[in-house]
Parts: sequence; C-alpha cells; structure tokens
Amino acid sequence: MTGREKPGKMYNEIDLDKIDINAAPPTEEPLRQYYFMAKCRAWVKEFEQENGQRPIAHVQNYGCQMNARDSEKLAGILEVIGYELVDTEEADFVIYNTCTVRENANNKVWGRLGYLGAYKKKHPQMKIALCGCMMQEEEVIEKLKKSYRFVDLVFGTHNIYKFAELLYTSLVQDGMVIDIWKDTDRIVEDLPMERKYNFKSGVNIMFGCNNFCSYCIVPYVRGRERSRRPQDILREIERLAADGVVEIMLLGQNVNSYGKNLEEPVTFAELLLEIEKIEGIRRIRFMTSHPKDLSDELIEVMANSRKICNHLHLPLQSGSSRILKEMNRHYDKEQYLLLVEKIRRAVPDIALTTDIIVGFPGETEEDFQETMDVVRKVGYESAFTFIYSKRTGTPAAIKEEQVPEDVVKDRFDRLLKEVQRHATERANALTGRVEEVLVEEVNEQDESLVSGRMGNNFMVHFPGNEELIGKIVNVKLKECRGFYFYGEFAGQEEQ
Ligand code: 5AD
Ligand code: SF4
Repeated sequence: MTGREKPGKMYNEIDLDKIDINAAPPTEEPLRQYYFMAKCRAWVKEFEQENGQRPIAHVQNYGCQMNARDSEKLAGILEVIGYELVDTEEADFVIYNTCTVRENANNKVWGRLGYLGAYKKKHPQMKIALCGCMMQEEEVIEKLKKSYRFVDLVFGTHNIYKFAELLYTSLVQDGMVIDIWKDTDRIVEDLPMERKYNFKSGVNIMFGCNNFCSYCIVPYVRGRERSRRPQDILREIERLAADGVVEIMLLGQNVNSYGKNLEEPVTFAELLLEIEKIEGIRRIRFMTSHPKDLSDELIEVMANSRKICNHLHLPLQSGSSRILKEMNRHYDKEQYLLLVEKIRRAVPDIALTTDIIVGFPGETEEDFQETMDVVRKVGYESAFTFIYSKRTGTPAAIKEEQVPEDVVKDRFDRLLKEVQRHATERANALTGRVEEVLVEEVNEQDESLVSGRMGNNFMVHFPGNEELIGKIVNVKLKECRGFYFYGEFAGQEEQ
C-alpha cells in the first residue's frame, strides 16, 4: 500500500446521480445532505477536469472513540463526494476533528494549526476545516476569528450531520464559515460512513452526557444525553454484520443509562440481548460505563452472554469518597469496590480497566492513598491515568485549592507504577492459556507476525499472515511482555 491510500469500506451507498442539483435544496434530513453531497460531487468533477486529478482530503482525528466514529462519518461523506482520502496533511482539504477533554488536547490543535497555516500560504487554494468538541468553546472561536483567519470552515458537535452542506458553502464562498450550535435534540440517521477496519466497527448508541462530573467539559460540549432508537441501532449492526463485521463496540459517554430518554424506554441490558441475536456478530464490546448506573440486570446479561467480551471499562476517577463527592460521581469507595466484587463473582474471568484522575483540586495525600488502595484491591488489567486539567466553565475550575504541579507529578508517577505492577501481574497469570483472538493486522515491526486482540482486550502477536486478518483464531499465550503477549497459532474454529 502506498502512503496515499487508506484502507476502508463504505456501506450505505447513496445514488447521488439521481438528485437534481438545480432544484431547491430539500428541507428534510438526511435528504438535504444527500443533495449537498451531490452538489459537492459536481464541484469535485469540475476540479478533476481542471487539475487532471481528484482533490485529496485528510481527516485528522483527536480524542475518544466517539470522535473516531464521527471522523469515519466525515471521511465517508468526503469519499462519497469524490475526494481521495490520504494520510498526510498536504492535501486540498484538511479537517481536524478536535477534542477538548484536557488542555493539552487544545494545545495540540493550536500547534498543528500553525504548521497548516504555513503550508496554506504556499498552497492558497487549500481549505482548512475544524470541528468537534473544542469548537464548542466560545474562547476558541474568538481566538480563531482573531488570529487564525486562514481557517475556512468551523463547526461543532451538534451539527456534524450538516457537514456536506457546510463543506459546499465553504467550497463556493471565500472567508471563514462558522456554524456552531449550543445544543440539539436531533439525531440524523443514514449518513454515509467510512470504516477503518472491515471486521470491526464502533456503533454509537447515544450521544451527549447528563452527568456533569465537576471536572468534565463533555456535557457542555456534547450536550444532553440522547439515545438512538433501538431499531436504528439494530439495523446498523445487521448491515455491518452482512458486510463482514464480527466485532462491534457500542459507544456512548454513559452506556449504562442508554434508553432512559426514549419515547419507549429500553434498558442497555435489553438492547444487548437484542444485539446478541444478530447473526455474524461474534463479539460485543461497549464503552463507557458509569459505576452509578451499572445495573444487576446488566451484570446478569454479561454473565450469560456468549458474545459480550470479558472486559469492562469502569472509570474510578478517584478512590477517595470525599473527592468522589466533590467530583459529583454519585458513588463512594465502598460502593465501587462492592460493584467490582459483584461483577467478578458473576463473570470471574473479567478484565477490568479504568480511568483515574490525579490532582483534583483539594486532593490530599490521604485522598490519594485511597485511590492507591482501590488500585491494589481491584488490580486493574490496565488503567488510563490523567493529571487533572482545569477546564474553564466547569465547577471544579473555580475551586481554589489547586494541587501544586510537583505534588501532582509525584502522585501520578507513583500511581502509574502501582497500576503497571498489577497489570503485569494479571497479564502474567494468563501465560500458557489458549485464548480466542481476533486478528487485526500484520505486525508493523515484524511482518512475519500478526497482531490481534483477546476478548479481555490484551494484544497478542503471533506468527501468521494477512489471510488471518478479520478471523477469530485460537492462540496459545507463550510469553507475557507486560501488557501484551507473544503467542502461537493453536487452531481455528468454523467461522
Ligand atoms: N482532567 C483530567 N482528566 C479528565 N477526564 C475528564 N475530564 C478531565 C479533566 N478535566 C478524564 C476522565 C474521563 C476520561 C475520558 O478523561 O478520567 O473518564
Ligand atoms: Fe464527563 Fe462524567 Fe459525562 Fe464521563 S460521565 S463524559 S466524565 S461528565
């Protein structure tokens, strides 16, 4: 594969040629967007005639899996329109799908924009677009308007479905196009999507978040919680399965509260039971679970399922009940530990992973020791550890007792060591076992190996070739290297 090609597969093809682009745009969605895709496609054809080649586009994703899924939607639309997608920023159209969960996510974007601005000076016909969570912040838009006039298109999280329309406006008009919505209650189905992998896919089940953890900016930039209708989710997964997808990851900021705001309420556990019935889907994952909403019903469904992976990501954030209260998490240390016990009893093999924040305002050494205690007691298979980042507009940002940087850094290092010690221990205990592995790719460092993931989310590398990609095979775990394994092919069941 050359550097300019990207793997991927589209589904949900739309016949844009049948659309009359000289008529007035439809008002209904997604028809309106199909119309603008057709308009953009005519623009692309003209570009091709003038330049002797198709325009090239690059979608750069920052942030979480929800953003990654949104980026696949952007890429899908660009592909339908006729752009060639590439992995380099030296393109005719570059879009950054931004994240703002921590300050360094914003800094990365400002840094890259400096580079893009310089590139655009030499290639003035290029278009630069920004979207995603960071664009929902007023100060960001002010800064862009003032100091980054070379950016052509800016939109946020709520109107991403309007991408084709916004792109068209930006293609035919000079100057900065800005369209940011404060919130939305709308979900537009049936837009095209590109997929990074043929055999696995993320599936949004809900958008937004209602939890308002006191440190977190997500509810402000992603808006109120909205669940997709179960029939839309099931239809999407059925199509994915028909297309060869064997593993799906259900995505939402708090999947445990799925369905509460639907006209006909459905629980997450009920949704899982329906998904389980879809033929062809062999593995089901989901992210993220909030401990406060994890029901007994869900634990039971997990315990009885043949398809739900034995992995649960259960963000702890802090082990101190006092800090948890300040964080507005609605559980305390004891409740969290009891929940873990209950899950481990029901699903003994389950791998637990978590998110932990160090240095929340007012965190004392004693509070921190409570976090270390939970890490020791639970023994996570892996943990994302974060240094608290002050996000303007959140309740925690105005707390005065910010923890000094050197103290936070020291706690962070100690936490990381503790996390790694337990992760290695838990991984080591698996050595010698034969596990089912979904092969994802040829190993980048050593082409004689392929790399895949077990149900518990650990990676394993073993001798094999690209024909195994997308297959679920048995692999004997020979050697543990901390958070990944070397293994040996041990057979393949009927697919
Ligand atoms: N500072 C540090 N980490 C944060 N997270 C969310 N907001 C912040 C913040 N202000 C972390 C939480 C969450 C994960 C996605 O990001 O741990 O679970
Ligand atoms: Fe942020 Fe809390 Fe919502 Fe997660 S649950 S997105 S941490 S507010």
